[in-house]
Amino acid sequence: MKLPEKGLAWPEIEARLNDAKKDDFSWREGRMAVYYYYLDDELAEVQKRAYAAFWTENSLGKRAFPSLAKLENDVIDFGLALMNAPEDAAGTFTSGGSESIFLAVQTARDWARATKGIERPNFVVPRTAHPAFSRAGHALGIDVRRVPTTRNDFKADVGAIASRIDDNTIGLVGSAPCYPFGVFDPIRELGALAQSRGLWLHVDACVGGFLSPYVKRLGHAVPDWDFSVPGVMSLSADLHKHGMAAKGASLMMLRAKELKEKHQTFDFREWERGPYVAWTMQGTRPGGAIAAAWATLNYLGDEGYLRCARMIMDNKKALIDGIGRIPGLAVLEPSELSIFVTRSADPALDIGAVSDAMGTRGWLIGRQVEPPGIHMHLNPSHERMVGDYLGDLAWAVGQARQGGARPREAGSTY
Ligand SMILES: Cc1ncc(COP(=O)(O)O)c(C=O)c1O
Repeated sequence: MKLPEKGLAWPEIEARLNDAKKDDFSWREGRMAVYYYYLDDELAEVQKRAYAAFWTENSLGKRAFPSLAKLENDVIDFGLALMNAPEDAAGTFTSGGSESIFLAVQTARDWARATKGIERPNFVVPRTAHPAFSRAGHALGIDVRRVPTTRNDFKADVGAIASRIDDNTIGLVGSAPCYPFGVFDPIRELGALAQSRGLWLHVDACVGGFLSPYVKRLGHAVPDWDFSVPGVMSLSADLHKHGMAAKGASLMMLRAKELKEKHQTFDFREWERGPYVAWTMQGTRPGGAIAAAWATLNYLGDEGYLRCARMIMDNKKALIDGIGRIPGLAVLEPSELSIFVTRSADPALDIGAVSDAMGTRGWLIGRQVEPPGIHMHLNPSHERMVGDYLGDLAWAVGQARQGGARPREAGSTY
């Protein structure tokens, strides 16, 4: 882009922005299986107005904006209570799941360094753990050991994890649920293992944190995964996923305030401008993301989150039942929350070719690589696509069987 010599008027800018979007996939119609969470235009409007009300406020400035400090604390308090945190727990509002995971891993590293003198640490995690753990390890000088899950249910293999622990291991990870298969790792067993070996257990509830408590209340079986499980030291839970908030919103929570004070806080004084204290990777932090998250919680209320959970579980059932009626397709089991994977149950049917055919009808397909499949992560808005999706999927299977819909789109886990 060349900078215009004179600034443009808003109508022209708006037209250009809309034009820039013209080749994007339609999330509004539910044609994407990832990247967005949407209920309806009413909630979207509340978020936009709340965001705009704090569009320039900076939540780095605690002295300047006590308003944001209060909104942030309200959101954190809600998250801690929902996740059964003890009285003395602490939370941090972050920009997203990856930052929450980074901060938890950093806090665990500094805790292990201070309390055990471990200088070359490692974490042992199931292979299904989010790449953010390896990314954090890369940045923080921590070896992240990925251990294959059990073959039958894709959950963390606790015995195999135990066998990879050594004197430099500082922590373990379990997901609630994991992204590739949507299943919960056995957090109780991981917690017991962590306690018996003096290790940190982080539970990644970026997907399940704000959804699974409501799914459980609807009567579905959800394993225990939160602070009520002994041994869980930290949690990540994304407001901008099933918390239904605007993007740039997640929580990182610690079992005790002392951990935050001693091992998470960055308290810096070696420059001319005086003390600089931060708990996140960001310096300047958008007040809008906090205000929009606070507004979302208050707009949806308990009833709204239950409604979202019901919509997701009903959509999932309708989709899984429909897929089961298409010859040649099957859904991987178990699928415990909002994610499921469709695979080929017929050696003559290439699931990649089915994905290619779906792409030609405007569906952004999540391509599972191991085993090959179609990855689906549902949010409430998928309600509007169930019929179209099943119709196009049956058509796509027919295309794939005839060898149609080439060339293949480049594969991507996301
Ligand atoms: C289980 C899990 N953890 C962490 C993340 C990372 O979250 P973010 O993309 O907000 O950084 C994701 C994202 O999909 C996830 O599914």
